[in-house]
Amino acid sequence: MKELKGSQTEMNLYLTFAGESRVRNRYNFFSEVARLEGYQWIGNVFDEAASTKYAHSREVYRRYLDMVGNTLENLKEAMEGETIEYSTLYRQFEEEARKEGFQQIGDFYKELSAVAKNYEEKFEELYNRVKDNTVYISPVPTRWRCMNCSWIHEGTSAPKLCALCYFPKSFFKEEGDEI
Ligand SMILES: [Fe+2]
Repeated sequence: MKELKGSQTEMNLYLTFAGESRVRNRYNFFSEVARLEGYQWIGNVFDEAASTKYAHSREVYRRYLDMVGNTLENLKEAMEGETIEYSTLYRQFEEEARKEGFQQIGDFYKELSAVAKNYEEKFEELYNRVKDNTVYISPVPTRWRCMNCSWIHEGTSAPKLCALCYFPKSFFKEEGDEI
């Protein structure tokens, strides 16, 4: 394929990604309303249409724009995005809302900032664990719970396979791990 960078087609792909992503959310909102108004089937139709919007945006973003990295890279990108939200963007939006007299919206941005900071911390811890290869290793014996069947394994590392359901190590999580 020809070089996309700088082309009108690249711009159109970004616009398509933004549009499809936005419509996906709107269809999910429409589904909620349909269900509240007593139309479960119409809710299903909106949800199904929302899923197709996700599929379209996925092809644009992953296949053509090639914007999704591996988990370590994605955790770093997520940390950076959340940092921008809580340290700059939402702080600015909060100030602007208050300046214009929208106190409730100012409060809303303050809460959004707090949530973004919380996520930044979670992503940072996960980033460090993936980087250091300690996602399935604990310095002290701990309880590892299978997320598929809830079987518990005790030890300093997650088992290779679940003894109950045979699901792999990737399904194990440290019990009590708040992340
Ligand atoms: Fe299991």
